[in-house]
Amino acid sequence: MAQLWGGRFTKDTDRNVYLFNASIDYDKRLYAEDIRGSIVHAQMLKKQGIISDSELADISNGLSAILKQLEEGTLKITDEYEDIHSFVEANLTRMVGEAGKKLHTGRSRNDQVALDMKLYVGSALKTIDSELKEFQKILLRVMEENIETYMPGFTHLQKAQPVTLAHHLGAYFEMFKRDRQRLADCYERASSCPLGAGALAGTTYPLDREYVATELGFDGPTLNSMDSVSDRDHVIEMLSALSIIMMHLSRFSEEVIIWNSNEYGFVEIDDSFSTGSSIMPQKKNPDIAELVRGKTGRVYGHLMAMLTTMKGLPLAYNKDMQEDKEGTFDAVDTVKECITMFRQMVDTMKFRKDVMAKSAMIGFTNATDAADYLVRKGVAFRDAHGIIGRLVLCCIEKNKSIEEMSLDELKEISEKFENDIYDAVSLKACVERRNTVGAPGIKAMKEVIEVYRRYLEGQEPSVYTRI
Ligand code: ARG
Repeated sequence: MAQLWGGRFTKDTDRNVYLFNASIDYDKRLYAEDIRGSIVHAQMLKKQGIISDSELADISNGLSAILKQLEEGTLKITDEYEDIHSFVEANLTRMVGEAGKKLHTGRSRNDQVALDMKLYVGSALKTIDSELKEFQKILLRVMEENIETYMPGFTHLQKAQPVTLAHHLGAYFEMFKRDRQRLADCYERASSCPLGAGALAGTTYPLDREYVATELGFDGPTLNSMDSVSDRDHVIEMLSALSIIMMHLSRFSEEVIIWNSNEYGFVEIDDSFSTGSSIMPQKKNPDIAELVRGKTGRVYGHLMAMLTTMKGLPLAYNKDMQEDKEGTFDAVDTVKECITMFRQMVDTMKFRKDVMAKSAMIGFTNATDAADYLVRKGVAFRDAHGIIGRLVLCCIEKNKSIEEMSLDELKEISEKFENDIYDAVSLKACVERRNTVGAPGIKAMKEVIEVYRRYLEGQEPSVYTRI
């Protein structure tokens, strides 16, 4: 047990208290962020004349060596230290001696950990964004291949109107677009650097906070030292954006599960992404989609835990805030893995176009179009709705679809029906006539796909500029 703060104490910490208090088990993941922040802090101390040239050289060589040894595995992080900050400082002093003891001048673990988490959140946002972008590329590929793949669109999980597979998947493309905006938004709001806030009230040393902020890629320093050390909004915002991503993935999962069921058979998940049953030999289960749906609860849980942890905390730093890490790391790992698995599952999935089209043909998905046909013949929509309702009832009795009814049978329902009704209610016509912006018609769909293609190739500068 090597602690930074032993001076005031006359007794050693109880072993169990030490372990309960320690965060090294999980904050060890922040070693790279911690070292990066420390190197810039030391450079600034030297620039301001607080440490000497040779002390800076010792500190930065030592910190770089620690980073290298950790990455090579020659230095191990053990629970001998309370947290990653203590670990780095103790090892630095062991390696370079006196200069190491000066690193913490003008700094507290409170602003240090706030910086580490902000840097971590920044790189996590960037990673999740690029995972989503890869997924969008796959979605766009499948969309381009399925502009004319007809399928039933549903409301209340009841067949409603015919759409295309491209159109259906485009809905998810839109969701992931919004998700990516949310991530970028969170990144931009987390653009000020807390280092230099000290424990809570700044410091008496002449620190150059602008320099540190710029060197670390932030827009500038935070403007209130108490807020700096007690703000975890960026963690909560990220967890919230991640929760929404999981909600989208969970809805998509649910559809894949339904589509893959024996009754629907719209898709076939590749063998490499399915699992079997230990007892029922015929089974091919959509476990990946189910797990993604299931893990959604876990990510929501981390958001709720963090909101609850922060609720009612007085300013400024409180140890409660150490609880920000495990859930956040787990949420980021979980979402990253879910997007990767789901994306690969979609990439290898077979879409059974014939089954989808057949399903769109039965179940009266063209009933609205039949009513629109009567409107074009001069019938008021409300009356047309009633007439087609009676027609559907009659079709159900005869076990026929609308297009299977003879013209005589149709005329018994309404004199307005002519031979052109058959073209008007064909699947192709029903979809084709829908060409308003955002609708499934081929022309409208092609325009949207072009917008998506340009969006994915977008040359506009990335917001993710912090390394
Ligand atoms: N391990 C702590 C955390 O993660 C670091 C900050 C500790 N500061 C303190 N005053 N105890 O929040």
